[in-house]
Amino acid sequence: MTWKILLLLNCLTVLLLSPASCVDRGNFKTCNDARFCKKHRELKSDDHIHELLVDSVTASSAGTSISGTVKNLKTNDELLLEVYGVRDRTVRIKLNELNPSRKRYEVEMSLDGTPDYVPIKMEKQHGQIQLLLGDTIHLTLHPKPFRIDVYEEGTLLSMLNADNLLLIEPMRVKPGKVQRFVSWISSFVPEVDEKGADHGEDHVEEENHEGGNEVKDEETKQDDAPAHEEERREEPWEETFKGHVDSKPFGPNSIGLDVSFIGFDNLYGIPEHADSLRLRSTKANGDPYRLYNLDVFEYELNNPMALYGAIPFIIAHSEKHTLGMFWNNAAETWIDIDYTTTSTGGSTMFGDSSSQPKADTHWISETGIIDIFLFIGPKPADVSRQFTTIVGHPYLPPHAAIGYHQCRWNYNDQKDVQTVHENFDHYDIPMDVMWLDIEYTDGKRYFTWDAPKFANPDEMIKNLTKFGRNLVVISDPHFKKDDNYFVYKDLKDKDFCVKSKDGGNFEGWCWPGASYYPDFINPAVRDWYAELYSRETFKDAWTWNDMNEPSVFNGPEVTMHKDNIHIDGLEHREVHNIYGMAHVMASFDGHLKRHNYQLRPFILTRSFFAGSQRHAAVWTGDNTADWNHLKIAAPMLLSLNIAGMTFVGADIGGFFKNPDAQLMARWFQAAAFVPFMRNHAHIDTRRREPWLFDEQSMFVMRDAVRARYTFLPFWYTLFFHANQTGAPLMRPLWYEFPKDSTTFGMDDEYLLGNALLVKPVTEENAKQTEVYFPGDSSENWHDISSLQIHKGGTKASIDTPLQKIPVFQRGGTIIPRRFRVRRSSILAIEDPITLSIALNDEQIANGSLYLDDGITRNHLEGDYVFAKLELKDNLLKSRVVHPSKKYQTKVWLERVYITGFKFKPSGVEIHELPAGERKPLEFFYDETNRVLTVRKPGVNMGKGWAIVIRP
Ligand SMILES: *[C@@H]1O[C@H](CO)[C@@H](O)[C@H](O)[C@H]1NC(C)=O
Ligand SMILES: *[C@@H]1O[C@H](CO)[C@@H](O)[C@H](O)[C@H]1NC(C)=O
Ligand SMILES: *[C@@H]1O[C@H](CO)[C@@H](O)[C@H](O)[C@H]1NC(C)=O
Repeated sequence: MTWKILLLLNCLTVLLLSPASCVDRGNFKTCNDARFCKKHRELKSDDHIHELLVDSVTASSAGTSISGTVKNLKTNDELLLEVYGVRDRTVRIKLNELNPSRKRYEVEMSLDGTPDYVPIKMEKQHGQIQLLLGDTIHLTLHPKPFRIDVYEEGTLLSMLNADNLLLIEPMRVKPGKVQRFVSWISSFVPEVDEKGADHGEDHVEEENHEGGNEVKDEETKQDDAPAHEEERREEPWEETFKGHVDSKPFGPNSIGLDVSFIGFDNLYGIPEHADSLRLRSTKANGDPYRLYNLDVFEYELNNPMALYGAIPFIIAHSEKHTLGMFWNNAAETWIDIDYTTTSTGGSTMFGDSSSQPKADTHWISETGIIDIFLFIGPKPADVSRQFTTIVGHPYLPPHAAIGYHQCRWNYNDQKDVQTVHENFDHYDIPMDVMWLDIEYTDGKRYFTWDAPKFANPDEMIKNLTKFGRNLVVISDPHFKKDDNYFVYKDLKDKDFCVKSKDGGNFEGWCWPGASYYPDFINPAVRDWYAELYSRETFKDAWTWNDMNEPSVFNGPEVTMHKDNIHIDGLEHREVHNIYGMAHVMASFDGHLKRHNYQLRPFILTRSFFAGSQRHAAVWTGDNTADWNHLKIAAPMLLSLNIAGMTFVGADIGGFFKNPDAQLMARWFQAAAFVPFMRNHAHIDTRRREPWLFDEQSMFVMRDAVRARYTFLPFWYTLFFHANQTGAPLMRPLWYEFPKDSTTFGMDDEYLLGNALLVKPVTEENAKQTEVYFPGDSSENWHDISSLQIHKGGTKASIDTPLQKIPVFQRGGTIIPRRFRVRRSSILAIEDPITLSIALNDEQIANGSLYLDDGITRNHLEGDYVFAKLELKDNLLKSRVVHPSKKYQTKVWLERVYITGFKFKPSGVEIHELPAGERKPLEFFYDETNRVLTVRKPGVNMGKGWAIVIRP
């Protein structure tokens, strides 16, 4: 009984501390608090030597993989090693227990289908094993100590287990509630001791009284257990954190491995952390980076603490090479980073006096298997493509979703929604989506409305859609425990809940109070949940899936107990980091089904995993109205983008606290140039619609939104490109300029596609900001407002009066834009296009344009226009490389605007391709700024055409 009271007291404390989620740093585990993390981190390189049994290694009959046995020489535990060749310079390496006493969980949900395996050739020589993938990639498997070296063109790029930190603790099965060992030798399995089982709770009680959790010797002693078994026995299975007991019924069964990147001293990725883009060294001080999806209240900046989502994907970059690695594991994971050097070796004649950089990583997960994908690059874009081929490309969102979003916790009633929507028109600010947070529901019961306040939801939605606008409503994964609530009842009746360790339905606290949580890991539960989105009055709203880490206010670290149970007896610890992703998959499916697979869904999620880009957008959660939070947005969003999660944004203004007008204005400007642009605020903050600030600030916010809308054709084309290739929308400078080492540590400016350089102003009262222009001196960067041109490889102080957004178009690019101001983006989707062309030194530029109906999924059947644009030798051409099938675009060319143009033409003519009649066009040449403007070419963008500029 005691432990129950203690637990209860703890829950109350948690709830009293804060109405939201009560968190300070002490509520979250450090590596020392997570026993497995501490253990792996303290491993010495000679603690566990492994040997690959060379004779055991065989190739699969298909020739696409090899497998063999790796033995832990200290414990005699045997591991199964598998190495697979994957198409497009990718290698998959798996390490699992050879004969686990319980199947270890392998994550499949992250993968976009089965990888495309290709032949991998094996040669055994000099007691080593060589694996060849294609002509240039080879892996050397060293047997003892076991190590894998990865080479490309004879250059060593990566080493696995070079520090001997490989460890897979065997899964064990706890008989009843008594802690007993099941040896890795199955014949040792002890019988269940019924009497012992009754002692289970006493044991826990003891633990809470004394803080100790010794295992009773006589219950566990195996006389013939080898020495290392003694060692294991010393570690109790149960673990307690802040009064929450984790029973760990399968014992400590963590995994870990070190991976070194040779010749690299820059690592990026493993979002989500509120930290710099370039990963810091964690070895010397502080904790490793943590990946464990958590609802962190008022998160801190510049540290490796876990946040809402997890993508265990890392990029190593140098001037010569870019490499990626995906650690496909959904359990709590910690990653230690260390930048060191290593002797170059090989050059025996000169000794090893020369050294090269080396980036060491140590990956530690609480359970599951080691399942690694190595992406050999060699360029950043190759790594993006290789990784997103495995975990899926980002989906193409509906056009409206890339416009401006207006949210707050909460818009009070339907009249409030109507008024805000009308005010956007009154103040001439484009807006595409209105949002409703939790208060629209009947007592936080999702899929219901607070009827007095929202009496006519259908009409409210229609009032928005009439203007091309949409409504998003929140839908969280916790369901109020209330027998009169149909979702809850159904959930319970169908037995679809996540279970607690004792087998009953798990009950946790969240917004509605006591709640149950669907087991989204179960496909049948996802199907059931998907149906809910078809409900009348909900079927025309888009969705915001929040709190899906999942957030449990009275749970350990504000989430679920790790020994909760999912389908097939899976433990929550095995699937924790994909719970949110599974939730969103069900929502996505529900959105498709309710409109007969005709319409594109829009879903925003807070929790995510590798692959979530297939279904949703992500925002960076509960940030704060603080300049430092504005500043951290760029690195956080960049980190997500290079990890495949491209449709991302940070709440404008900061969720907590009140931004002043200047911060709000600067935040609007910054958000106009990130993929997802949403204004959102906590219920305790002042209202912050743009017109509530002084007039000058309001104009700045309005201009920022309008600036965003002028670039929507460019954004939309980038989204299409991301869908085709997995390329990020927002790119670190080094992504486009991989050899420019000045950029490797930069994350306060970035690129959109390959064409726009953005430097958001994130300092209060900044009169100027320093901008670095990447690339060599052949690069030109055209200031889109002042028209000044900056050379690559230089720095400049740019004046930043409040109106100024420092944005520069790269010489050599063509950007499609739209300049007519409309209420919403969908109303403008047929509006004419202006081509903004920035020339390079050779007077060349190129770009592309994607057009479709913006709403349906007909683009998947080829109903879209894709045109390639090129200006060269004074000839501007549009070639429609993908003509549409049924979709007939009305979009025409309104204007061509060329900066860096060197002479005044004698004439400009247009003709349709291949050989239409030539028509003269009006033009204007600004000699001072070297800008040529060509007026009203008037051609339809669904067809090919050419504009001839005569010297
Ligand atoms: C693009 O996104 C759609 C969903 O919008 C998806 O079905 C398709 O597979 C994606 N394309 C690629 C090449 O991944
Ligand atoms: C819909 O718009 C009409 C006309 O502006 C307005 O009178 C009505 O109250 C609106 N309905 C809702 C539910 O907001
Ligand atoms: C377009 O420009 C990029 C960057 O300058 C260049 O790499 C590419 O080859 C060009 N493509 C065409 C078709 O000219």
